[in-house]
Order: sequence, then C-alpha cells, then structure tokens
Amino acid sequence: MSKLQKLGVQLVSWIRYLGLPLFLGILIGCVLVYQFWVQPALTQQPVTLTLMMIAPEVPPWSDILIKNFEKENPDIRIQIIEGPNASDLYENLYTASFILGDSPYDLVNMDVVWAGKFAAAGWLMDLSSRITDEELKAFLDKDVEAGRYEGKLYRIPLRSDAGMLYYRKDLLEQAGYEPPETFEELINISQDLQEKKAVRWGYVWQGRQYEGLSAMFVEILEGFGGFWVNPETLEVGLDKPEAIQAVEFLKSTIDKGISPPGVPTYQEEETRRLFESGDVVFLRNWPYVWPLANEESSKIKGKFGIKPMVHALGKTSGACLGGWGLGISKTSKHPEEAWRAIQYLTSAEAQRPYIIETGYLPSRKELFTDPEIVSKYSHYPQLLEVAENTVLRPPIAQYAQVSDILQRYLSAALTNSRFTPAKAMKSAADETRAVLEAGNKLETKA
Ligand code: GLC
Repeated sequence: MSKLQKLGVQLVSWIRYLGLPLFLGILIGCVLVYQFWVQPALTQQPVTLTLMMIAPEVPPWSDILIKNFEKENPDIRIQIIEGPNASDLYENLYTASFILGDSPYDLVNMDVVWAGKFAAAGWLMDLSSRITDEELKAFLDKDVEAGRYEGKLYRIPLRSDAGMLYYRKDLLEQAGYEPPETFEELINISQDLQEKKAVRWGYVWQGRQYEGLSAMFVEILEGFGGFWVNPETLEVGLDKPEAIQAVEFLKSTIDKGISPPGVPTYQEEETRRLFESGDVVFLRNWPYVWPLANEESSKIKGKFGIKPMVHALGKTSGACLGGWGLGISKTSKHPEEAWRAIQYLTSAEAQRPYIIETGYLPSRKELFTDPEIVSKYSHYPQLLEVAENTVLRPPIAQYAQVSDILQRYLSAALTNSRFTPAKAMKSAADETRAVLEAGNKLETKA
C-alpha cells in the first residue's frame, strides 16, 4: 500500500470513529490555529516605527533612548531618519511629507511650537483618551499645554528647555561685579571688561534668521514688558514701543561692538563655541551648553555660572520655553506600537540616562530633584522654578508663518542700516495681522 493509500484508510477510520461533523470541526480548528497563531508566531518580524530626528539629537537618541527601548521591547524597532539641525528647517520637511499624503513617519518628534499647526491640519492622532489627567500632572504644565489644540492632546513632552544667561564667574569676580540683573548692567559690565582688555566680546546671542532668533527674541521682548501675539485675542504687539526697544537693544549690542559683527549669522552652536573659547563674558543659550562647556577641552571649565535672563529696570525676566515631545502621525499603520514607544520614551526611566548624558531639561518634574541627576547637575532643583515660569512663543495654529515673518524683519533690522527697528517692526506687525486675519476668515467660513 502506498503512503497516500495508508493516509486515506487512516482518515476514513477517524471519520467513522468520531463522526463526520466532529471530524470536520477538529480539522477546521487545526487549520485556524495554524494560520492565525502558529504561522504568524513562526514568521513574525518586529514592527518598525519610523521617526525623523533633528540632526544633533541622533546620537543620544540612538545610543540611549532607542537602545534601551528596543532592549525592553524586542517586538518593536525604531528607525531614525536624520533631519536638518535647525527647528524650522526640520519642521518644513515634516510639513512637506504630510502635505504629500501618507507621511512615512509613525512617530512625530515635535518642537514645543508645532503641535497647534500639525493638529489643525489633521496630521496627528488625538492622544487624549490614552493618558489620564493624573498621569499628565507629572509633567511640566506648560509643556503639556503646548501639546493641546482645541481641547485635545496631540503631543507628550519628552524633554523641556528654557533659555538662560551664562556668565563668566571668574571675570566678574576679578572685576568686583555681581551677575547683572538688567540690560543696562549687562552692557556696562561688558564694556568695562572689554575696555580693560579682560575679554574680547561682551555678549553673544542667536541672531541668524531661523527659529532660534524668535526664541531668543521673546526673552528680550518679555524683559522690556512687550508681547508678540496674544493667543486669546490675537492682538499683535510687535510695533509697540516695548518691542521696538527690544530690537534697538539687540542692535545696539552689535553697533557698540559688545557683540561680534557676525552675531546675525549665529545659531546656538556658534555662540556656544565662542563662549567656550574664553572670548566672551555673557552668552544666551539653552541648558545643553552646561555639560559641554564643562568638558576638559573647554577653556572655561568650572569658570562660569548661569542665571535667568536680564530685563529692563522695573520689569521681570522671561525664559523662553523650548523643548521636544512626541505625537503619532494620523496615517501610521502602527498606532498601538507607536503609543507603547511614546509611553516608554517619555517615562522617568527612559529620560534619566538621556538627561544625564545631554544636560537637557527633563519634562517630568520629579526628575529635577532626582538624586542621580542632581549628583551630576546640582543646579537642577533651581532650574525647576525657571522651567515652570517660562514665556511661550504664541501657541497658535499659524505659528510657523508668524515666526517666519518675525525672523525676516528682525534679521533685516539687525543687518540693514536703512531698515530702522521701528520700520521693521511696523512691517512685521502688519504682515502678522494680515496672516492672523486670513486665518480667522478661513475658520469662520469653515
Ligand atoms: C531648542 C529648543 C526649541 C527651539 C530651538 C530654536 O531646540 O528646544 O524649542 O525652537 O532651540 O533653535
């Protein structure tokens, strides 16, 4: 008897023994179990989530955050695509990919100022039902608020940021100065130390036409008591006397030789390197500079301090709120895996080693006083107060357009002597109003 014949005889005897309906039931059951359970388990590949990352953040993301995540989640991989290194260029790439249709990214890494635009355009999934208000309380409030749009939540903060003033402790002490509180004191100390040839430059800041210029400017604006756009009423304050004074102040630092003539071309990194070379008394920058400027290779290791930004007499200082967080692209085919990734990446456990390595500010309040973090960054408990009292760039859906207008006119005022601060800010205010009115009309029509 052939093998086939033997199998046939066997089958017939099973059918006789079990009865045809039971035999068929068992057979169908076996096929289903194989198809939906055994076979996928044998052939299952991990799900790959894609994420575009701003260039300087690729190493700490790959080496710390993603490595640790994948260790705990072997069924999910995160693939990083390297983006440019300025926030606005990075945002342009995201926008282009969303406009073209299905975004290739599952996770969306967002600057604190993007969520409104992305949510309004319908590019993000609503995360509101995935996290409770109680869980959100563990994060810095303003970072959470920046992720909401029309009452829904689209972004979970992963790390925060706040602008601050770095100053050379050693130079100030030698000359008998306290760290400055006002713009005037900063100018006077700078000029005095420059005249004494103790240092080449007084003050460096981000003057290039890019998002960092807007972030830096809101601090000067706040210090003069001005405002950019009121998010409730959409009133524009750029042509008010306080805003013009803020631009005049920045311009005067270049005209007086306190800031180098190259300042209108500098981003964060150029200013950090100049400060680390030892040629500068004051620097405006984010907290990431602290560990880098304390490395062995830095000429100012252990010689500098940080404090809140200066302000006009009788006004208060403002630190611009920066920071980054994660959302899920509306077209992602793996929202559940993407959410698992967000839960892990924004957890205290994930943030701790990443914060220790980078010197960024955590998004979770408890980490500002975390013993392991504080043993490297003893100033973090004080920074919690700074991070909780930040100034926001206007959280409105038209933010990218409005910031682009401000950057263009500020840059013109700083580099073109025919464009006075008053004239530049009048044009910036008019264009901003036009954009906001057009946005309003569209909303009313809808
Ligand atoms: C930092 C901030 C971000 C800001 C950017 C400007 O990355 O975290 O919010 O937009 O700098 O350069």
